[in-house]
Amino acid sequence: MGVSGISDQEQISGEIASIQAEYEAGLEDGAAVNNRTVLDYPPYRSSVLRHPTKDLHHTDPETIELVSPAFGHRDVDGVESDLTIQHSGEPLGERIVVTGRVLDGDDRPVRNQLVEVWQANAAGRYIHKRDQHPAPIDPNFTGTGRTITDDDGNYRFVTIKPGAYPWRNHTNAWRPAHIHFSLFGNAFTQRIITQMYFPGDPLFPLDPIYNSIVDPAARARLVANYDHALTSPEWSLGYRWDIVLTGQQSTWFESEGVDA
Ligand SMILES: [Fe+2]
Repeated sequence: MGVSGISDQEQISGEIASIQAEYEAGLEDGAAVNNRTVLDYPPYRSSVLRHPTKDLHHTDPETIELVSPAFGHRDVDGVESDLTIQHSGEPLGERIVVTGRVLDGDDRPVRNQLVEVWQANAAGRYIHKRDQHPAPIDPNFTGTGRTITDDDGNYRFVTIKPGAYPWRNHTNAWRPAHIHFSLFGNAFTQRIITQMYFPGDPLFPLDPIYNSIVDPAARARLVANYDHALTSPEWSLGYRWDIVLTGQQSTWFESEGVDA
């Protein structure tokens, strides 16, 4: 515990390590691989009292669709996938392209899929007023964008690399740099949300959200690959990240209410 009674990193890291060791010991004893997040994950302190404890409530999707919003190709403008051109000036930071394919469990492209992103600016600050940590707001960066996948399931965003940012899980807690992703299926009842990370981030072993996915291979699927072929000379770095919606290689998606 830190001086204020709030846990410190050493405490959190110890808890992360022991849950991880327990999972790996289970695998050796023949337990199944767990590709999903552990919902009751004490190192992620604010989730302890709010994680789901009951099965999802099933609704009739057709009934919901009668009253829910709808979108089509015409509603999403091509420029909405470029987060660097939403204001009169250019945002500060490292310009990047993030692209990849949305696939189903059989490797088939998921076409015409609404993909939305939101992220902190290069200094690690969200435009959101709940984010009050002392890093500068960038007047030229809002940090939200959206696009529709093409016939091969491709999506593509131009943005700036987000910074790491502090949060109040424990003393000196910092989130690894990440971009939040939301995908809708064909209907609003099929929304899934996840986070994309950047390779080689030194904060990975310290972060309780990242580590609440206990399977190392499932965790690694949240990390984009640096791709030099996507990098444009004198312009931007390129990252590739495929999103697999179902099956053994599926990307992990978080439950509603995770907002860090
Ligand atoms: Fe975030």
